Amino acid sequence: QERLKAGGKSNLPPAKHVHVVGAGVMGGDIATWCAVRGLTVTLQDREMKYITPAMERAKAFIDKRYPDQAKRDETLARLKADVEGNGVPDADVVIEAIFENLQAKQDLYARLEPRMKADAVLATNTSSIVLEQLSQKLATPTRLVGLHFFNPVARMPLVEVIRTKDTDPTVVQRALAFARQIDKLAIVCMSSPGFLVNRVLMPYLSEAIRAAEEGVPLPLIDRAAEDFGMPMGPIELADVVGLDVAMSVGKVFLQSDSAAAPPTLQKLYDAKKFGKKTGEGFYKWQNDKPQKPD
Ligand code: 3HC
Repeated sequence: QERLKAGGKSNLPPAKHVHVVGAGVMGGDIATWCAVRGLTVTLQDREMKYITPAMERAKAFIDKRYPDQAKRDETLARLKADVEGNGVPDADVVIEAIFENLQAKQDLYARLEPRMKADAVLATNTSSIVLEQLSQKLATPTRLVGLHFFNPVARMPLVEVIRTKDTDPTVVQRALAFARQIDKLAIVCMSSPGFLVNRVLMPYLSEAIRAAEEGVPLPLIDRAAEDFGMPMGPIELADVVGLDVAMSVGKVFLQSDSAAAPPTLQKLYDAKKFGKKTGEGFYKWQNDKPQKPD
């Protein structure tokens, strides 16, 4: 692994406009964060109904952050819903944050790439698909880079900048400069299953789920990890990350053998109980809080 710490000055001009595709939890929160950091942001999804919840979350976040109404208005005005993708030709950075499906991502890139500025960065927030596969059908495969954010985006300082051996070094430098511009701590990782953080995080989450399957109560597992010093217990974190995301990242390590996923995870996944985002996972969720017995 090649690692670089954020910091230091970049000679590259700062990005002005970011276009984010995919208005789910990650895409919506990345878009909001970029608007807060002063960039013009267009947020695209298939229909307005997918963008509206992200815009509402953005408004609540911005309202809480800034007491001053003018500052709120100005920040929110930088974030625009964009079903048609009109922002693509103006964007310095395009971030794809759609669901974890290789074909869907490749089809999207085929539509985006011809409309992008020649030197714009094409970045993916994928957690689980290696870049060598994602870049296969691009006209310029060397232009794709990973920008892997963590949930909740506004609070997690780290961004993994993912590259392959073929990624254009200028693209990596631009991605790094962008991460710094939005006040994130960037590390450069070679593309590999789980990149860096998920290699550590996923075994931790899986073992917690297996402990629950052996009969340890869920809140006790969380409490033990929290008392040990983690900011949030692993079962709650799995619900926050989303059990759909946990499954797709987990499969990378299980070489696509989903049968080997912890059975309770598989069961919840099959029932589309993805955690916080659907209101139920390992816990039931109300007002963004897991319902744990006292
Ligand atoms: N969005 C924005 N802000 C949030 C937030 C969210 N979803 N959740 C909490 N916050 C803010 C709160 O508003 C509060 O802000 P304030 O100080 O201005 O009032 C602040 O964070 C602290 O909130 P709380 O006091 O409620 O809670 P905590 O102090 O426990 O912090 C936490 C919350 C930062 C989420 C902490 O529990 C934590 O670090 N949890 C672990 C998160 C983690 O590990 N994420 C990585 C997941 S892996 C991933 O995303 C990659 C994927 O590929 C799997």
